[in-house]
Amino acid sequence: MTGTNSINIGDRDYPVLSGSVGPDVVDIRKLYANTGKFTYDPGFTSTASCESGLTYIDGDEGILLHRGYPIGQLAEHSSFMEVAYLLLNGELPDKAEFDKFNYTITRHTMLHEQLATFYRGFRRDAHPMAIMCGVVGALSAFYHDSTDITDPRQRMIASHRLIAKMPTIAAMAYKYSVGQPFLYPKNDLSYTGNFLRMTFGVPAEEYEIHPAVERALDRIFILHADHEQNASTSTVRLAGSSGANPFACIAAGIACLWGPAHGGANEAALNMLHEIGRPERIPEYIARAKDKNDPFRLMGFGHRVYKNYDPRATVMQKTVREVFDALKVSDPVFEVALQLEEMALKDDYFVEKKLFPNVDFYSGVILSAIGFPTTMFTALFALARTVGWVAQWNEMISDPDQKIGRPRQLYTGPTQRDYIPVEQR
Ligand code: CMC
Repeated sequence: MTGTNSINIGDRDYPVLSGSVGPDVVDIRKLYANTGKFTYDPGFTSTASCESGLTYIDGDEGILLHRGYPIGQLAEHSSFMEVAYLLLNGELPDKAEFDKFNYTITRHTMLHEQLATFYRGFRRDAHPMAIMCGVVGALSAFYHDSTDITDPRQRMIASHRLIAKMPTIAAMAYKYSVGQPFLYPKNDLSYTGNFLRMTFGVPAEEYEIHPAVERALDRIFILHADHEQNASTSTVRLAGSSGANPFACIAAGIACLWGPAHGGANEAALNMLHEIGRPERIPEYIARAKDKNDPFRLMGFGHRVYKNYDPRATVMQKTVREVFDALKVSDPVFEVALQLEEMALKDDYFVEKKLFPNVDFYSGVILSAIGFPTTMFTALFALARTVGWVAQWNEMISDPDQKIGRPRQLYTGPTQRDYIPVEQR
């Protein structure tokens, strides 16, 4: 971070800081002390909440870089485990580093056996995200030896545990909902292959992993691995800023991700495509999305940062075709999605507001073809985003400028008044 310029506010100069790329930021940390005034920025549309070297997005150009590497290149040539290493450590691993990392993650895939009992406390029809929030938060009750956040070794063990256990936790949430026995992880499988087997396998039979499906799902995980200071990542950072343990912080991130404006959009997008059902009905839904008096929005469309095509959606659309070809299936909702995209991108409303398909628009079509129920979609997002969350959390804890997050407010409630006893009100 460098700062050569400054900006004048009131009678003082405030430093303007430059990152390696992207907009400069005005360092207003002394603003309140100097002026007695706060800034007002609901939704943080103009606020950089931290310094970070992990992920860069150029929303106008539709660029997403992890540690400098374009998402398209990572999706095509890398693996989710390699991207996890990259996000956590800053550089791509050499062969020995990668093997060691893979080995470490693989050795943390099992859950404490008592946690299986914990699952049985949930209703069978519980949403997998409800189970994920509960079980991930509960990890802090089981892994006391990795909750001391002042110890870098414990922080790394907790990070590895979270990344490794998330597929087991998500698969068990699914198994519980369908009434099938939990499957233990099998450590000779890949991260993603293991997850597929724990989800769709049964103890009575060998589970054969379809290589194209394994590759497609691994790519989906890469596309979801991190995304700068989005709502759930900011939630993880804010929770972590108080010194809370990493398991509790990631549970907070999962809770935030669940919402339909964020990770819940993949489930909502596929439900919407099913509701539209036929291409002839698309204009009706486009009209509804444009109607100010109708709360309906095109799910999987629009983004706070991307004002261009989300680069993840490009890869996602290509992956739909690969999965359909590999599994020799098709789905009429894909045709609805393609035509909806085409019509929306020609419509003045979407053009003027720069609303493009985002990562969630096509992901549901793929996940559904693989066999996941819609309720699992956001759980898969959480599984993959855990890598970003733990990398961001580690970065925050190691940052010497880190303080507890404590925004202020523009108070518009009553000013001080005297209490009136109930009989006099
Ligand atoms: N359909 C119709 N209109 C939309 C849509 C949409 N999907 N998205 C934004 N708009 C309109 C919105 O009504 C507003 O219009 P106006 O300026 O006339 O009031 C304008 O575009 C700007 O929208 P905004 O809500 O102020 O923008 P935001 O940056 O606060 O919201 C968003 C971003 C992603 C929450 C929003 O685009 C949205 O709700 N999209 C649908 C949900 C979705 O797909 N979410 C997944 C995001 S990507 C994955 C992730 O990050 O989790």
